Amino acid sequence: MIENIERVLFTEEQVSARVAEVAAEISEKYRGRELKLIGVLKGSVFFLTALARAITVPVKIDFLAISSFSGRSDGAAQGMVRIAKDLDDPIQDEDVLLVEDIVDTGFTTRYLLQTLAGRGPRSLGICTLLDRSVRRIVQVPVDYRCFEIPDRFVVGCGLDYKQLYRNLGYIAVLNREMMNPEKSP
Ligand code: IMP
Ligand code: MG
Repeated sequence: MIENIERVLFTEEQVSARVAEVAAEISEKYRGRELKLIGVLKGSVFFLTALARAITVPVKIDFLAISSFSGRSDGAAQGMVRIAKDLDDPIQDEDVLLVEDIVDTGFTTRYLLQTLAGRGPRSLGICTLLDRSVRRIVQVPVDYRCFEIPDRFVVGCGLDYKQLYRNLGYIAVLNREMMNPEKSP
């Protein structure tokens, strides 16, 4: 295990097993249809590819990127999100599943849901690797979640801290000293 990791929340084996379960649920739900997975760059990439490979109905994929200010502490820009890179293709009349790395406050997800809903998909669902519902500020309907997590900052499986750690196969809590260097001895 690498330095700066306080503890592993879910091992690579646990993540793979849970992704397989959720993929089976999704395959059952969309049986006989085609499904478009929409990933939010960059955090959902690792989860989306694992999910897509385990889903048994025909799958299309597309990506969008957002700039979000929900992490700022001044409160002024809280919840502000904008699309930095849009989808390549329309989603009209398609069964769409928005694939997220984590639903935290819910601001990002709500914004994306509203935006995508306005484009006339046949159906629109949400699938997230992680759900930190204790921090939710705006309610969003999460259809599929792999894991509920406690109120700690996590990395791995696509989630980053300053763009690092996305490639870890497991999901881990970072050391608090790492997050707040000014407070370390
Ligand atoms: P929300 O709009 O507050 O739900 O923020 C969701 C976004 O914040 C996610 O897509 C992540 O990019 C980022 N984020 C929230 N919590 C974490 C975390 O624990 N680790 C890494 N990124 C996080
Ligand atoms: Mg991030």
